[in-house]
Amino acid sequence: MAITTKPDSQYDALVIGAGAAGLFYGARAGEAGLRVLVIDHAAKPAEKVRISGGGRCNFTNIHTRPENFISANPHFAKSALARFTPQDFLDRLALHDIGWHEKTLGQLFCDGRSGAIIDMLLTELRETGGELRLSTSISEVARTDAGFGVITSGGVVEAERLVVASGGLSIPKMGATGLAYDIARQFGHGVIEPRAALVPFVFDGRQKDDFASISGVACPVRASNDRAAFDEAMLFTHRGLSGPAILQISSYWQAGEPVVIDLLAGLNAVSALTAFKAEHPRRSLASAMETLLPNRLVALLLERGDIPDMPRMADMSHAAIEALVEALSCWSVRPAGTEGWRTAEVTAGGVNTDELSSKTMESRLVPGLYFIGECVDVTGWLGGYNFQWAWASAHAAAQG
Ligand code: FDA
Repeated sequence: MAITTKPDSQYDALVIGAGAAGLFYGARAGEAGLRVLVIDHAAKPAEKVRISGGGRCNFTNIHTRPENFISANPHFAKSALARFTPQDFLDRLALHDIGWHEKTLGQLFCDGRSGAIIDMLLTELRETGGELRLSTSISEVARTDAGFGVITSGGVVEAERLVVASGGLSIPKMGATGLAYDIARQFGHGVIEPRAALVPFVFDGRQKDDFASISGVACPVRASNDRAAFDEAMLFTHRGLSGPAILQISSYWQAGEPVVIDLLAGLNAVSALTAFKAEHPRRSLASAMETLLPNRLVALLLERGDIPDMPRMADMSHAAIEALVEALSCWSVRPAGTEGWRTAEVTAGGVNTDELSSKTMESRLVPGLYFIGECVDVTGWLGGYNFQWAWASAHAAAQG
């Protein structure tokens, strides 16, 4: 396709998407002396930053390592992550007097609202000469002699570099689209099938009713499959299972597979039950289990037959205690699916990294074309890793 109209405006770099990655790129490229325009079809910039981390933006994780990211090429993210670290982002926050704190597991949050990060991104873009056009839709992208021509609702824009930062498919209500994948395919790039990740599981039939009956109950577990294991909290919901442990394992889950939940993770349950039996031989197994798990969960497990009805602990042999602990440590559930794009925090899959430079995020097929942030086939764990990828990939592209 060719764009024949004379451009209404020209820039060194045109960024599609005013989210975390696009705005951060804009400022870094501006610092490097490029004239940058960032466009977005939404009325407000960086809406996912605003709602992230419960409104306080979990903007990075101090334990960031390449192992915390999922990609068809696990080596791809290494270079960008090494060249822009969580400390580099903290240095930027210090320049803007943005306070932060660590919650758990290296997750860093703003002391105040996430809006502080958006203000920082917008201030840096403005101060480095970058421009931002919101409520601007895109109808066509093409190669031109000068680089790329993009037909937008605000006129034709031409730029030497086209930086695609339009994110993934999660939360369409917030304006997520597959534009990045369309542009990638248009220019000959492969796209690893996008799938909802960091997303709750849903169940059907009896399991759905069972879990719904204790909706709101949470407990620490280990959720695992053949590929990964996460020790965090699990939450029963009206539709199935959620909570950090479930969101994490969902990123490694394929439809139809079971997930193994260790309901007694981190507890020395055999010793605890044995000690309970010695102290309270006439009390029931259910009351013993209530010292380890939430009461409503124990009641459900009893009803399901996952815990035997044993009125007197004295009647429970050591072998029976061991067998019960073993069974509850590998409690297998088979989700019917996930809540999908409606609630997924991120999109796994995306623009295939095989055809991108890991140093600069530039296309190996089309010089001047870049993909950064969530649209790339690099997906972080829960806990600030996805924003760290947005910052690091944007920084790498701006250096390129
Ligand atoms: P992002 O999605 O942020 O930005 C893309 C931009 O492109 C958007 O502004 C969009 O409007 C625009 N766009 C899309 N299609 C377009 C089109 N066709 N035309 C023009 N513009 C278009 N991560 C983390 O590390 N810590 C956290 O605390 C959280 N919390 C969190 C909560 C919730 C509810 C969600 C949904 C997600 C998170 N995340 C997170 C994930 C994190 O928000 C996400 O990984 C980053 O925002 C990705 O940044 P990008 O800039 O790549 O895309």
